[in-house]
Amino acid sequence: MGERLPKDTSKVDMERIVSLCKRRGFAFPGSEIYGGLASCWDYGPLGVELKQNIKNAWWQTNIRERDDMVGLESSILMHPQTWVASGHVSGFSDPLVECKACHLRWRATEANGQNCPQCGGELTEPRMFNLMFKTFMGPVEEEASVTYLRPETAQGMFVNFENILATSRKKLPFGIAQIGKSFRNEITPGNFIFRTREFEQMEIEYFVKPGTDEQWFDYWLKERLDWYVRLGIKEENLRLRQHGKDELAHYAKQCYDIEYLFPMGWAELEGIANRGDFDLVQHARYSGKNLSYYDEETDERYVPYIIEPSAGVDRSALALLIDAYDEEKVEGETRVILRLQPPMAPIKVAVLPLSRNEKLTPLAKEIYTNLRRNFTTQYDDAQSIGRRYRRQDEIGTPFCITIDFQSLEDNQATIRERDSMAQIRIPINELEETLRAKLAGEPLSTQPLWATRQK
Ligand code: GAP
Repeated sequence: MGERLPKDTSKVDMERIVSLCKRRGFAFPGSEIYGGLASCWDYGPLGVELKQNIKNAWWQTNIRERDDMVGLESSILMHPQTWVASGHVSGFSDPLVECKACHLRWRATEANGQNCPQCGGELTEPRMFNLMFKTFMGPVEEEASVTYLRPETAQGMFVNFENILATSRKKLPFGIAQIGKSFRNEITPGNFIFRTREFEQMEIEYFVKPGTDEQWFDYWLKERLDWYVRLGIKEENLRLRQHGKDELAHYAKQCYDIEYLFPMGWAELEGIANRGDFDLVQHARYSGKNLSYYDEETDERYVPYIIEPSAGVDRSALALLIDAYDEEKVEGETRVILRLQPPMAPIKVAVLPLSRNEKLTPLAKEIYTNLRRNFTTQYDDAQSIGRRYRRQDEIGTPFCITIDFQSLEDNQATIRERDSMAQIRIPINELEETLRAKLAGEPLSTQPLWATRQK
């Protein structure tokens, strides 16, 4: 919601990112052998690892390292009354216009009161279009069995407020967090994985005492912006934008977007909203349950306010790929590099024997088998070493281990660092320890690990 795309754009074009993703197995068009399904993308082996790294980092920061947060995994299908109470049945819609000539449909805001952006044809009057996917529970397709695929994971956390309070013995302020799929029948999906109809969210619902909400809102704005910087996204490509009154969601008292400079312009990466007591009051009203909180310290009972930082896994993945993408000339050839921070890199280490050989292969395989227990590791012995380095650079692998004939004599291997291309030789039995230190010890550093650059 609330995405605005001004003119500035980042340096990388989206085609390059889409092409890299397809070529190297980050993401493929969904159901491709049937000609694809509009705006659906399937994450390949590297895409899955990248998304997992993002989710792990988010879970680590927001749950594991905090005393005031707990996790939840609520079901995608929820009681249909949930969506009446939440206001989504009546209010979760976009104004839609249709071109009378080519019949393409647009969000009214995109057409901007003008003619069809595609063919210039005349547009119909706007009508409201509900973005929730409708489905039926059970074998009978009738009105009574209608339910919806959730358009946000948030509601699962509101309806479990009482359960969590009773079982976790948390006191305000505290938060519930979950990661999961959400679905919206977007009128104009697009820009690769930026806006799709099925996507994954990482949401926090942070419950606070009314009156302290603005202070907590500011806290989460800073916390969340810092998190993207710690993931390795360049600060100059991130900004905060406050929602105007006219674009606030039906539940929001106040909202800011963390925006990233995507190739098509500045656009929402994460929304941070002050939802007030809207959701708990509504669910209490529709369910008949008391969803207030008894504050032992002040001997008061009140309905907590909620601060909601809501992020998208897919958009984070896209921003990381765009931000990390780089090209440089090396010996007259273009080297494509994904300068991902090591914790985000899908593959941490590649083991590359200099050649396929009856002596080198067993040693390289042994090293590979040992390393893969601790690091996502790839083994590659096809084509020249230069091409193999390029393949790993292109997918962001921070370290390559090369085993050569000298290794058979001196039990040493070469570690090559992705960004600087610098190389050092170290004893094979110190590989694991060295890699662990390099990957964990300087996880968020952009500095080359070795000052001297060797070919
Ligand atoms: N519970 C609040 C909420 O859902 P939102 O701003 O509509 O707020 C939060 O969505 C985040 O979810 C967005 O910042 C974005 O990262 C992601 N998101 C929303 N719609 C999306 C879509 N159609 N495709 C991909 N990601 C989407």
